[in-house]
Amino acid sequence: MAKIVLENITHSYNKDVPAVEDVNMVFEDQTTNALLGPSGCGKTTILKIICGLLKPTKGKIYFDDEDVTGLPPEKRNVAIVFQFPVVYSMSVYDNLMFPLLNLKIPQEEKKKKVLEIAEMVGLSHVLNAHAPRLGPAEKQRVAIGRVLIREPKVFLFDEPLSSIEPEKKAVLKTEIKKIQRKLKQTTIYVTHDQTEALTFAEKVAIMDKGRLLQFDTVENIYNKPAAAFIGFFIGSPGMNIIDGKVKDGSIDFGDFVFKLPKTMKLPSGLSDVKLGIRPEHVEVSTVEKSGWYKFIVDAYEPAGKGFGIIHISTDHHDIKVRSEQMVDEYTPIWVNFPTQYIHIFDQNGMRVNV
Ligand SMILES: Nc1ncnc2c1ncn2[C@@H]1O[C@H](COP(=O)(O)OP(=O)(O)OP(=O)(O)O)[C@@H](O)[C@H]1O
Ligand SMILES: [Mg+2]
Repeated sequence: MAKIVLENITHSYNKDVPAVEDVNMVFEDQTTNALLGPSGCGKTTILKIICGLLKPTKGKIYFDDEDVTGLPPEKRNVAIVFQFPVVYSMSVYDNLMFPLLNLKIPQEEKKKKVLEIAEMVGLSHVLNAHAPRLGPAEKQRVAIGRVLIREPKVFLFDEPLSSIEPEKKAVLKTEIKKIQRKLKQTTIYVTHDQTEALTFAEKVAIMDKGRLLQFDTVENIYNKPAAAFIGFFIGSPGMNIIDGKVKDGSIDFGDFVFKLPKTMKLPSGLSDVKLGIRPEHVEVSTVEKSGWYKFIVDAYEPAGKGFGIIHISTDHHDIKVRSEQMVDEYTPIWVNFPTQYIHIFDQNGMRVNV
């Protein structure tokens, strides 16, 4: 078990743009963490740096207090499970036994370990099956079992469910989580699926274009996104991000004006801003309400879960509002942006309100 520290990690595959840049993170011992971000943002690069398959161009990696930056993968005791499960052309039992073959422990003990791990990853009933003949989910169980048997200090998963049969994903994810709870290795789970990340991990790191934008609890990622990108990336649909200009204690959006609450302190000199509000936090009424904005409904899109999304197009903006009440196209509605759900970002999309 180990705490993993990434210190100023930069990695360039070629000379131009770094794949990851100046990443600083601490994964506490025995915790579950997710790395989330769009394709190409650098998730796999970070995992490979942690397990030693890649040496970063700059920066250091520590396991607890030991500098492991120069250590090869086999000296780090890190398990990594990839998207496409790799199984050897032998029985499930022999696949699990494989990592133990050269260990100097009694045969009986090895056998006991194989049976124990098979039980843990749900393979006891297929021990004699030829591993390559199994379906994707079962193959992934073999791959997980084979790295678990070495009792790794750190467990890395790189999109382990993306090649699994859809109906088996949820079960396997729950089982991975159960195994982590039992063994308590520090775990990092890479995915570009927000639901997977948010339901798996205690802390989630959001990356974009090689940069770490926020590494925080699931709650803070949703309630206090550090960047407009995160607000938009997390949620379905994501946060409304509306461009405007700060003027005399208000934000002017061109066709409507939002009065900034007195309690909201923004840095002085701020001009171009982005206001963020989640579709589920916008208040909506089909009857006139004083002080609320009047807009015209563009479309209503049922979400099939007892609510739908109202689309509003003003002259300058598209706004989405979650509503349990169905509304007709081209009819007026009144909406309100409650102060406690307002997020303000600067023109680079970085959060400015506390
Ligand atoms: N071996 C390589 N050689 C050159 N560039 C690479 C190599 N591997 C990755 N890259 C580039 O580095 C950047 C980060 O890639 P990485 O694979 O870490 O992203 P990712 O977040 O894992 O993406 P995905 O979700 O698609 O797996 C991308 O721009 C990618 O094209
Ligand atoms: Mg990847």
